[in-house]
Order: sequence, then structure tokens, then C-alpha cells
Amino acid sequence: MSDIQKVKHQIISWSSSFKGDVELPLLDMINTGKMVRARLVLIIAGESIKSIKLASIIEMIHFASLLHDDVIDESSIRRGESSVNARFGNKSAIMLGDLMYSKAYFELSNFEIEVIQSISNAVCMLSLGEMIDEKLGGSFNSDDDIYMDMIYKKTSSLIESSAYCAGIISNTNPNRLKAYGRNIGIAFQVVDDLLDIVASDEDLGKPSMVDFQNGKSTLPYIYLYKASNNEEKKFLLSCFKKTLDNISQNKLSSLFQKYGILKKTYLLVTSLIEKAQINADGNVELIKISKKISENVHCHMQ
Ligand code: FPP
Ligand code: MG
Repeated sequence: MSDIQKVKHQIISWSSSFKGDVELPLLDMINTGKMVRARLVLIIAGESIKSIKLASIIEMIHFASLLHDDVIDESSIRRGESSVNARFGNKSAIMLGDLMYSKAYFELSNFEIEVIQSISNAVCMLSLGEMIDEKLGGSFNSDDDIYMDMIYKKTSSLIESSAYCAGIISNTNPNRLKAYGRNIGIAFQVVDDLLDIVASDEDLGKPSMVDFQNGKSTLPYIYLYKASNNEEKKFLLSCFKKTLDNISQNKLSSLFQKYGILKKTYLLVTSLIEKAQINADGNVELIKISKKISENVHCHMQ
């Protein structure tokens, strides 16, 4: 069994204690996706009972946060499939999230205090990040500092903490690994923002060009707003939270093109990846993960 399969096995084994109280079809929805956070833990700390447990705890927390996020975002699709809320309703999705999160915390209590505090702090941050994201959805936000703070909290904090905690349990430069995790975490979200604009529905496993429609003024839109003249700014604001027809979508695309916004955003991704790599201290696998993040969007940038 590969180390990642061992993580999946651990999560299923912990969750199987809920059988009887939780309907089996709901338990079967426990889906761990790409497991970036678990992979980081295993690369840094190597395979051991402790690292498999840490990786499982982090993936359970991440899964719980996505269950809640899909309820908050009223999303019916997750990873190309019907979301838990779409299939079983909001109540079940929230309760399954609570269960996964609480079990993860129970298991976390066996770890050293630095690990417990780092993960607890990351969960506070990701909850705050989600709140800020929700608040920002009220009107167009043109402040990139506020946006970067939000994505650090919502997306990067748990990735940062995964790398840091793996460093703690294996005694390998936790603070440098933390910086590595923070930078790939932010890059990961900015790539997600770019993919919403440049990738197809099939590539994404969900509809594309929906962030702006859903009230998310992501980084490319903030950059576009700042670069635009008054008339273009007005047009951009008129598109916020609207379902766009083809004419408006094409106009938006040509504005992105006119000001080189996607390239500018991509350059930020590459600089974040470079910063991450400096802190990877030559770990080939960590460098590979960081490269993969920018490659995901690079193929769409030609
Ligand atoms: C995805 O954002 C959401 C997150 C990364 C974090 C969500 C956090 C919470 C709901 C706080 C609750 C936490 C726990 C542990 C229960 P997105 O909507 O931008 O991304 P998406 O396209 O993947 O949905
Ligand atoms: Mg969401």
C-alpha cells in the first residue's frame, strides 16, 4: 500500500467508528481529492505511523472545511461530482463536517503542543479567511492587500501549518518549511483564480468564469480594475455578480488582454514559487510540488 493509500485507509478506519449512527451512503461521500496537504506531510516527515496520522488529521480538517464551504457557497459540484450538500442536503453536509473536524481534533490531542497550536491556529485563520471572503462578496473589492490577506488565511494557512508540523515531528527546519508552505499556498489560490478565467469547464470539473459572477473579486479582476480607464472601470463594476452574456465575456477577455493582466498575475505566481523553492532547501519532491502548481496554469497562458 502506498503512503497516500495508508492515509485514506486511516481516515476510513477512523470514520468507520461512526457506522450505525451515520448512514453509509453519507460516509461513502468522504472524498479526499488530490491530498496536497497529506503529500507535503509525507514528503517532509517520511512515512511513519505518526506522519500518516498527522496527514489524515489535516486532510479530515480540509475535507470538513470544504463541506461547510459548499453549503456557504451553495455549490452543487465538488471535484467534478455532486457535492454532499447537493446530494444529502445542507444539514447532513454540515453535520458530516462537524464529525470529521471533531474526530480530527480528538486525534490531534495526542500530538506535541506546537503541532496542536499550529493546526488550531490555522483552522481559526481559515475560518476567518472564509468570513472575510464572504464579507468581500458584498461589493467589488479593489484592494489587493485585503485580498492577499484573505487568501493567505483561507487557503494558505493550513498548507503552511502542514509543512510546519511535518517539520516539527521530523525535526527538519519547521520555520523554513512554514515559509515554503505559505508561499505555495498563496500561489495555489492565485492559480485557482487564473484557472477560473482561462480554463474550460471540462478542465476544471466545474463551470469556468464564475468567480466574478459569484461575488469574488479575485486578483486578476483587482489588477484589471486598477489598470482600467474610468469607462472600463464602470463596465467592470457593471459585470460584478452578474451572469455575463457572450458579448460581455468577450469584452472582459479583451480587457484582460489589453492590459496583460493574466501575464501579470502569472508572474506573481512564479515569484511566489521561487520564494517557496528557496525555503525547500533542495528537497527535490518539494520543488516538484511547487513547479506543478504553476504548470497547472502555464499550459493555459500561451
Ligand atoms: C474554499 O474556498 C474554502 C476554504 C479553503 C476554507 C473554508 C473554511 C471554512 C468553511 C471554515 C470552517 C472550517 C472547518 C474546519 C469546519 P473557495 O470557495 O474559494 O474554493 P472552492 O472553489 O474550492 O469552493
Ligand atoms: Mg467554495
